[in-house]
Amino acid sequence: MIQDKKIVFSGVQPSGNLTIGNYLGAIKNFSRFSEDYKTFYCVVDLHAITVRQVPAELRRRTYETLALYMACGLDEKKNTLFVQSHVPAHAELGWMLDCYTMFGELSRMTQFKDKSAKHSQNINAGLFTYPTLMAADILLYQTDLVPVGIDQKQHLELARDIAMRFNQIYGDTFTVPEGYISTDTMKIMSLAEPTSKMSKSDENQNAVVYILDSKDDIIRKFKKAVTDSDSCVKYSEDKPGVSNLITIYRAFTGKSIEEVEREFDGRGYGDFKLAVGEVCADGLAPVREEFSRLMADKSHLEAVMKAGADEAAYYARKTMSKVRRKIGFVN
Ligand code: TRP
Repeated sequence: MIQDKKIVFSGVQPSGNLTIGNYLGAIKNFSRFSEDYKTFYCVVDLHAITVRQVPAELRRRTYETLALYMACGLDEKKNTLFVQSHVPAHAELGWMLDCYTMFGELSRMTQFKDKSAKHSQNINAGLFTYPTLMAADILLYQTDLVPVGIDQKQHLELARDIAMRFNQIYGDTFTVPEGYISTDTMKIMSLAEPTSKMSKSDENQNAVVYILDSKDDIIRKFKKAVTDSDSCVKYSEDKPGVSNLITIYRAFTGKSIEEVEREFDGRGYGDFKLAVGEVCADGLAPVREEFSRLMADKSHLEAVMKAGADEAAYYARKTMSKVRRKIGFVN
């Protein structure tokens, strides 16, 4: 089979419940590549164990993340959907790339610094080398384009550096990937603290809207969202709460900032928050329904994972044999 389409790869961790930030910033965009690219979307369970996981929950969330990919519009016939640990080459290449990645580079990763502060009892080596495993995910498939949220930009740049370094030592081996960071809806902020990112691990449940939240929960959370003391729906840097709500409203309605400002001119925050809650809940309703339908049929999900892993392994094998030869491992 000749592969002439360019390659897209992205991954989502099966840890925590996915938020509208994950949805709008990443997953919702994934399906736009299905026609023109060969696409690999991976449930990165190996990454998830860099923080302690409850086994039964990790297993359940792995199914859920796959189901969510599909519920968000990724057709398993048009996209390769699979679980990272089902293709052992990820871990294998991850180790090899560790040996071409500098301690200093990994020490500079902001996600490592953040996560070690947060999990100070468990600053394990995997947390440190997380970015080389991510580089392996990407480089294994000779990926051209990586759609991710803005928070992954630094990791992506490291993956590019590692690819270039390896290519320089051994000659052309890896495609150097580009990031695809959607600029309009890229960063959804916490509803309680709108200057920090909405995070699935936030302890304040009112700060985070999950893709699978009920309509009532969604509306309640938006009603409680932090805004500011004036009452003007206007997008501006000194109004982070309101601006975040405008971003979310735009993402679900496709309206421009000006249109949103005009629509709510003189109407106050109460009205506006309710409207944001409604478009969000209604926008997610089909995803939620499809998700429940998919989760009711585990054996179908297993068949999808299996077919995806077989397909992915085929591509991974090609890269691995090249890498082994270049490094000097005996065949
Ligand atoms: N680190 C990414 C995140 O937390 C997940 C991820 C792992 C990923 N491997 C990847 C994303 C490869 C894109 C490509 O969001």
